Amino acid sequence: MRIIEIQGSSQPSTIRVGEAFANLPRHLPPGKAVVITDENVLRLYRDRMPALPVLSIGSGEAFKTLETVSDLYEALVDLEADRATFILGVGGGIVCDVAGFVAATYLRGLRFGFAATTLLAQVDASVGGKNGVNLEGYKNLVGTIRQPEFVICDPAFLETLPEAEVVNGMAEIVKHGLIADAGMFAFLEDHASAALRLEPAVVERLVAESVVIKAGVVGRDEVEAGERRKLNFGHTVGHALEKTGVFSHGEAVSIGMAFASRVSVRRGLLPEEAHRRILALLSRLKLPVRASVDPLRLVEALRRDKKRRANRIHFVLLEDIGRAVVQEIRMDELEGMAAEFPDILQTGPDP
Ligand SMILES: NC(=O)c1ccc[n+]([C@@H]2O[C@H](COP(=O)([O-])OP(=O)(O)OC[C@H]3O[C@@H](n4cnc5c(N)ncnc54)[C@H](O)[C@@H]3O)[C@@H](O)[C@H]2O)c1
Repeated sequence: MRIIEIQGSSQPSTIRVGEAFANLPRHLPPGKAVVITDENVLRLYRDRMPALPVLSIGSGEAFKTLETVSDLYEALVDLEADRATFILGVGGGIVCDVAGFVAATYLRGLRFGFAATTLLAQVDASVGGKNGVNLEGYKNLVGTIRQPEFVICDPAFLETLPEAEVVNGMAEIVKHGLIADAGMFAFLEDHASAALRLEPAVVERLVAESVVIKAGVVGRDEVEAGERRKLNFGHTVGHALEKTGVFSHGEAVSIGMAFASRVSVRRGLLPEEAHRRILALLSRLKLPVRASVDPLRLVEALRRDKKRRANRIHFVLLEDIGRAVVQEIRMDELEGMAAEFPDILQTGPDP
């Protein structure tokens, strides 16, 4: 097992990679606790849930809303949850985001922790303290930053994940290597097939190294004043692509990373050879590196991005594999590049 600590401003957070969910009682504080999970996780893992009240939400982004949060508040009232009640989120990124937000806001804040059940939640969503819900089609528009007391990443959960969800998580693992760890990227190049097969030693190493990278960035910049922006590598274009409804989060981020890598070459930051390695690894991990979208519509979606600042956008680029840099890019420059990279964004009708 690897134990990784984040020193958050609200409280420290301990992430246990390789810990068995069965050992949960060792980490839960004594007293009342309530589980928040989703319908799929409950169906698959009902027998392994701790003997606690369980609140289940629907599965999918459509349930990551203030309505779901409000339903959970009411259920907590019915359960007579008080300020000593501990909230345990058991699920993927959506459960972590919703359960974290409910815990951070109910009675002005309850103690909480997570058991992350998807690869994406283990390498990314459960770590770092950001939580929240979507509003009016905008992702994660409402939320707080508050660290979970603990996160358990039990690799056994991943055995029931559909392959598409494994691939989703791989996109964030590649991102972590690209922004901060060339050695991890090279390890993934050497073990791409084993990673997709979820070979335990390979996956545990990739999850632990991802958590170390994210925890390090969050520890240095919890509130995204600077360095934490690097975690958005591939996500600016990714979020715009995701809004088309055609791509999953991981697929959209993968195309976003391919695009950002291309922009990095164009700006004279990244060698062409490194760009080719990036595209090759993403493809081996069954992630797409191109999309057939109208670049102008994509730029329109970017303009509506909540992170947009006037006519400029903070864009994460690569100086090398393992080294990210944040630069401001003018929207018209981005628009020009979106139209210019037919190898990534093919001009054409929306898919
Ligand atoms: N807070 C953050 O820092 C952060 C970071 C990245 C992503 N996110 C958020 O995370 C969400 C995506 O997370 P996700 O990809 O885990 O999605 P998810 O929570 O929807 O899980 C994906 C699917 O897998 C199912 N599932 C969960 N665990 C399973 C298991 N062990 N076996 C089989 N099926 C299982 C779920 O029911 C769901 O249908 C997005 O809303 C995104 O915005 C948050």
